[in-house]
Order: sequence, then C-alpha cells, then structure tokens
Amino acid sequence: MLTTVVSGSASGIGAAVVQALRAAGQRVIGIDLRDAEVIADLSSAEGRRLALQAVQAQLDGRLEGLVLCAGLGPQVRPESLIVSINYFAALELLDGLLPLLQKGDSSAAVVISSTAATSLEWADNPLAGALVAGDEAAAGERVMAAGAQGGYLAYAASKNALSVAVRQRVATWGQAGVRLNSVAPGATRTPLLAAGLQDPRYGQAIRDYISPLGRNAEPHEIAEAVLFLLGPRASFIHGAQLFVDGGIDALTRPTRL
Ligand SMILES: NC(=O)c1ccc[n+]([C@@H]2O[C@H](COP(=O)([O-])OP(=O)(O)OC[C@H]3O[C@@H](n4cnc5c(N)ncnc54)[C@H](O)[C@@H]3O)[C@@H](O)[C@H]2O)c1
Repeated sequence: MLTTVVSGSASGIGAAVVQALRAAGQRVIGIDLRDAEVIADLSSAEGRRLALQAVQAQLDGRLEGLVLCAGLGPQVRPESLIVSINYFAALELLDGLLPLLQKGDSSAAVVISSTAATSLEWADNPLAGALVAGDEAAAGERVMAAGAQGGYLAYAASKNALSVAVRQRVATWGQAGVRLNSVAPGATRTPLLAAGLQDPRYGQAIRDYISPLGRNAEPHEIAEAVLFLLGPRASFIHGAQLFVDGGIDALTRPTRL
C-alpha cells in the first residue's frame, strides 16, 4: 500500500487531501496539533524534530508521498508564527523526509503555497536574507516590527520564499528521483479563510479578491490537483507551481508567466 504523509491534516485543504488519498486506497500519516496520527507542534524546531521522529517510527523505511498543507493565515498573531509554520516547518519536513521518499517507488511531494507567493518578487522579498540564512529569529523580529501589515508581510513573504525554495530544489530532487511541485490555491473555503474574512485589517481585501469564476474554491478542488501531481499521470511534472485559483493569477498578472 502506498503511504503519504500530510501535514495540516486535521482541517481545510489538508483534511480534503487526506480524504481523497484514503478514498484512493492509500495509507495516510497526518501531522497536526490534534486529530492526527502524529500530534506535533510544528512551530518550534523541537516540535519539528519530534514530528519527523514520530513519522519515521510509523514507516517501514520508505515513503511514496508527502503533502505539506500546515499553514497559518495573515491574521494570526504573533506574526512570527506565520513565518515559522509556512516556511521553516514546511522546509524542514520537506528536507527531512527526502531520504525516505527516495526509498519509495515513483515518489512525489506537493507543497501548498498560495497565490500570495506572486504578490511580490523574490528580489524584493524583505525576508529573503533571513529565510535563506535559516535565521528564524531574525525573520520573526522583522515581521513583528512591521506594524499593522506585519501579518500580510509574513504571509506573502513566507509563501514567496516557499515557492522559490521548491523551485531551487529541482536539481537535487530530480537526481534523487523524487518529483516536487507546489500548488498555489486562491481563496479556499476553510477555517483559515473564515478567520481572515473576520479580521478588520484584511477582511475587505480578501472579500474583494474574487476569482474570475466568481467564487472561492472548495477544499476538495485543491485536493484534486494535489492528487494529480502526486500520481503517475503527472510523471514528467517537476518544479511546477500549479495555480488552482479560478483564474485570479491570470487576472491580476496577465503578462507574467
Ligand atoms: N484557505 C485559503 O484560502 C488558502 C489560500 C491559499 C493557500 N492556502 C494554504 O493552504 C494551506 C492549508 O490551509 P487551510 O486553508 O486548509 O487552513 P486550515 O486552518 O483549515 O488548516 C491548517 C492546518 O494546519 C495546522 N497547523 C497550524 N499550525 C500548526 C502547528 N503549529 N503545528 C501543526 N499543525 C499546525 C492546523 O491545525 C490546521 O489543521 C496553508 O498552507 C495555507 O496557507 C490557503
């Protein structure tokens, strides 16, 4: 039986991915703060270490799939947590589980980024230096000092850096025989989006961010794309960022490919 690890498995997109994988007959090891096979707090280095240890203990030396969904929205405080979960935790799980993925057959990983990743250029990403240096404390301080827009800065900059980090791994992961892609969802009806809509700083901007299809996504629509990227029909797709956004990236950036 194929096994896939899913972070953020208890809610929203992660829960939809778990449901779809189980319906396809796969074994899933979820990682989350609650209701998961591995209960772990990914906000600290120690929590991530324990999560990796617990996942490894549940596997027999190999893994076929990895989906990184755990993430926090721009409304979360302290804002430093957003960077810790969305960037540092995702990359530590990604790199930490590569050796097991390498032992699996036709393995693949999918990282859930966001259309927010394209809201700034990598060259202008104010957190880039700290993130590349692996300096979690400095990145956290930078967003905490940013005032009312700190949450949005943390979200956009961490997702931008996450998408870049995926693309920067394309050679090493290709050599390892493990495909790696990201999915960039637009607004999707989950508890994260609901909390953002209620936030006085960001609620209106999120309400105005309506896709050309005139609605937000349902979590299962993101899960469908994830399962496609994990599976054999995507066997030559590697290093891609797949927008699952009802067309909003094309609407807002028609000339940027
Ligand atoms: N919902 C959207 O509109 C939207 C849009 C673009 C991208 N995304 C991204 O999709 C991913 C999933 O988001 P969602 O909307 O399903 O959110 P959600 O809040 O429904 O689910 C996120 C999950 O991550 C888990 N998580 C948070 N902090 C954690 C921690 N410290 N340790 C372990 N687990 C933790 C939560 O417990 C939760 O189960 C996120 O990375 C998010 O940034 C969401």
